[in-house]
Amino acid sequence: MRRLDQLLANLGYCSRREARIWIEDGRVTVGGETADDFGRKAAENDVRVDGEPLDHPGGLLLMVHKPVGLVCSHEDREGPNVYLLLPERWRRRNPVVTSIGRLDKDTSGLLLLTDQSPLVHRLTSPKHKVPKVYRAVVDADLSPDLIALFASGTLLLEGEKDPCAPAGLKLITAREAEVTLTEGRYHQVRRMFSAQGATVVTLHREKFGPLDLGDLPAGQWRELPLDYFSSP
Ligand code: URA
Repeated sequence: MRRLDQLLANLGYCSRREARIWIEDGRVTVGGETADDFGRKAAENDVRVDGEPLDHPGGLLLMVHKPVGLVCSHEDREGPNVYLLLPERWRRRNPVVTSIGRLDKDTSGLLLLTDQSPLVHRLTSPKHKVPKVYRAVVDADLSPDLIALFASGTLLLEGEKDPCAPAGLKLITAREAEVTLTEGRYHQVRRMFSAQGATVVTLHREKFGPLDLGDLPAGQWRELPLDYFSSP
């Protein structure tokens, strides 16, 4: 149960002050009755605005096909971000819709967004070892010896003292590979290849845990059930 004015503001409909006006104007009902007290507490599923049920009152979990050129940060000064792909109301929610881990501006592919912070913590924690699969094109021929090195759990990134966790490497061609990581360090795939003298030219995340993008076009998103990642 939340106060009506707070509920509408938190779900991104309007400011709390505007919510009070909407309520005064009779646009909000609770259990079919017009609400006249903005401080009244109500169960989310009983509330309607202009006759419509509330927009995802229980939370959001989205899979986005991130195009190159957008950042995952909310800071405007870092450039256009992935949240611009979402409906405006979702961008005004509190708790805020944020990415589960990040992809670099120059990386495309599968990105999850949610307003459920426990899910962010669970899916980004290295403890849970959620596998993420990346497709990388590099600017130098890759030696098959890298497969054992990536798998060994000894690969050190510049400036770090703990080696990377064992990672999968599948060579598709001499300059294209699939990398499977269970952690998410800053620019990790790019830095793993650069430690071996190869620069990543394009990078795309194909899978996150059991999920792949299917035929979702770049720039589009699709909703997932909130309990998608719950253990059976
Ligand atoms: N590794 C990178 O280098 N960049 C990403 O965006 C994701 C993993």
